[in-house]
Amino acid sequence: MERTDAATKTDAAPLLSVEGFSLDIAPGREYLPVLDDISLTVGAGEVVGLVGESGSGKSTLAMSLIGLVPKRISRQRGGRILFNGVDVTALPERDLRAIRGSQVGMIFQEPMTALDPAYRVGDQVAEVIRRHNGVSRAEARAQVIEDFRLVEISDPERRADAYPHELSGGLRQRVCIAMAIACRPSLLIADEPTTALDVTTQAQILDLLRRLRAEMDMSIVLISHDLAVIAEFCDRVMVMYAGQIVEQAPIDPFFVRPRHPYSSALLQSLPENQPPLQQLSVLRGSPPALGHVASGCRFAARCDFVQHGRCDVEPIPLRGLDGGAVRCVRAEELALPGVGE
Ligand SMILES: Nc1ncnc2c1ncn2[C@@H]1O[C@H](COP(=O)(O)OP(=O)(O)OP(=O)(O)O)[C@@H](O)[C@H]1O
Ligand SMILES: [Mg+2]
Repeated sequence: MERTDAATKTDAAPLLSVEGFSLDIAPGREYLPVLDDISLTVGAGEVVGLVGESGSGKSTLAMSLIGLVPKRISRQRGGRILFNGVDVTALPERDLRAIRGSQVGMIFQEPMTALDPAYRVGDQVAEVIRRHNGVSRAEARAQVIEDFRLVEISDPERRADAYPHELSGGLRQRVCIAMAIACRPSLLIADEPTTALDVTTQAQILDLLRRLRAEMDMSIVLISHDLAVIAEFCDRVMVMYAGQIVEQAPIDPFFVRPRHPYSSALLQSLPENQPPLQQLSVLRGSPPALGHVASGCRFAARCDFVQHGRCDVEPIPLRGLDGGAVRCVRAEELALPGVGE
């Protein structure tokens, strides 16, 4: 019944809505908390960036959105993930598979996760199309060639017959994008789609994603370490720290006036904020190990603005502020520097 209720609300509801989602992962015997109280929304046609240090949980969150974290090593501690009003955490694998590919496409952090080295790339993309659309081999092949053109792969007939190792990194990433959009998803999740590429190819791939988004009216969740990429590409940004979202804001105010000390520290460490010939200022210390987070604010130990007795006592909730959200008790009283200060 819950599903029907949720479905009737979809007109007003965002495309994707995550509410208080927490996930534990057991790399060995013990479960460790990897995601904690994640809440976010992605509206139709919106491009949302996800940033945060390595290990903060970005890829795990991306995988959770389409039920790709293996159940045998994970345990959901709470919350739900509504896609078009349907809780994907409650769906059986078969229904998840139908959503993946057809409504949600994913570009993985490791391109070779998506591509099988033993098969021609054209056949691999055709397979995705056939699985979801039930078209003939010839029709699927024709769409592959068309999609390769769409993602600007030159000489698509020849490239479709190549094996992954015969293609450059940039071409492989274009094949992965073709695969992710083959069924014209309404949401594309792109996990560090340009990190492994040189600067020129990076810019080309971002241009391509921008064009596809406009043409296909997709929403995009873009994961990146690179705040410059986020600034250029996204409508809104979400900052992750130690498994939590610590700030969420529209892009322009975020860069001028971040509300969380961690966001401000990230912005301060951008190269354009540094005086010439000086070393990048880096955040002191390192993020907490999984399972060893502080009882209060998880960033408190590294924060220049920490107030003992206030910040380190109990968990800090994510609360709405100025059209965004922040997980800091001092947000209103701090005037934190952004870019260019
Ligand atoms: N399958 C898994 N088995 C064990 N640990 C895992 C697994 N998946 C994620 N983790 C752990 O969860 C934490 C978050 O990892 P995740 O890959 O989501 O981070 P990330 O923010 O994507 O990092 P990066 O920027 O390096 O890609 C890490 O400590 C990682 O070791
Ligand atoms: Mg990752």
